[in-house]
Amino acid sequence: MKKFLKYLLIIIGIIVVIGIAGFSFIEIRGIPSYEVKKIDYKVDVTPERVERGKKLALLLCANCHKDNATGKLTGRLMGEAPAEFGKIYSQNITQDKQYGIGTWTDGELLYLLRTGIKRDGKYAPPYMAKLPHMADEDINSVIAFLHSDDPLVAANATPDQPCDPAFLTKFLCLVAFKPFPMPEGKIAMPDTNNAKELGKYLVFNLDCYACHSADYKTNDYLNPEKSVGYLGGGNKPLNEQGKVVVTQNLTPDEETGIGKWTEDRFVNAVKNGMMEGQPALRYPMIPFIYLTDREAKSIYAYLRTVPALKNNVPRSAFE
Ligand code: HEC
Ligand code: HEC
Repeated sequence: MKKFLKYLLIIIGIIVVIGIAGFSFIEIRGIPSYEVKKIDYKVDVTPERVERGKKLALLLCANCHKDNATGKLTGRLMGEAPAEFGKIYSQNITQDKQYGIGTWTDGELLYLLRTGIKRDGKYAPPYMAKLPHMADEDINSVIAFLHSDDPLVAANATPDQPCDPAFLTKFLCLVAFKPFPMPEGKIAMPDTNNAKELGKYLVFNLDCYACHSADYKTNDYLNPEKSVGYLGGGNKPLNEQGKVVVTQNLTPDEETGIGKWTEDRFVNAVKNGMMEGQPALRYPMIPFIYLTDREAKSIYAYLRTVPALKNNVPRSAFE
């Protein structure tokens, strides 16, 4: 019996030591690093690209990177990142050479935006956007805009606040969150005369599906339509105070989705955040004011074609 206890204690001791070693390894190593493929890539900066890139950046990047104190993309504390993930700051992405991305090459930016791997090899966790589906031409426009002297990105020496990711984030980046592969072929622009095709492109790239499916954890980011409960709502993103604001069902189901919505009601909700007979839509649903009416209508057209799901998700309580 004594012998048995002795072995038991030894085994428990070994397990504890392995546990502490594993914990320390993950804690000290931090977010995993990956090989950075050097890509020879140069985007021609044209006024058209800068203009298009600005629109895309306002739709896709400003929401997280814009600092209200500077009015520029100098980064901010992300109160909407789950507290268990640690203290997260979006970074200065103005042209400043010390704190911003003034010395990043086009290839480094492309690699980060496609895969999530920064130029130092560190993986940018899911609280930084990735663009695996964006057309090459649109990504070129984003890069051209980032390198422009537009007031949003003109060099501004606001120091970066380093992120302080929690153990959980480091652990999840080791076992669950992985970089995306670089796309193998070219990604063409959608046919803008085909409403459904354009709508699908916007639903993929503006992350409508990422928030409006069942859960971030069960989304399929490389094949969005394979996400669990695709566009059926129920995901629970947080607002800037860290409170859940549940997402609704955008499938054509007539009772629980938007099957009975008119196009006008939809466009007004998406572009202006306005809801007939209800309080306005709240963060993190931002009014997509930079979409044209035609783009918003194309999203509506696409959403009418996705499989209808029955999932009743009333809006989160108002305070
Ligand atoms: C959901 C919030 C969010 C969105 C949307 C977002 N970012 Fe970020 N971004 C972050 C956070 C947070 C970090 C810091 C990540 C880290 O520490 O690894 C970051 C880091 C970066 C970096 C690395 C900066 C550095 O100095 O290391 C670049 C470049 C960048 N973002 C560009 C963009 C661009 C371009 C867009 C739009 C296409 C965008 N981001 C959209 C949150 C966001
Ligand atoms: C960051 C997460 C997020 C993204 C991205 C997002 N939404 Fe939302 N959406 C929400 C949340 C949260 C609500 C609920 C807001 C509330 O209750 O005040 C919402 C509400 C809505 C509503 C109202 C639905 C209803 O039945 O009340 C519509 C319509 C909508 N979103 C469409 C879209 C479209 C289209 C896109 C892409 C262009 C999109 N959303 C992108 C989070 C998001």
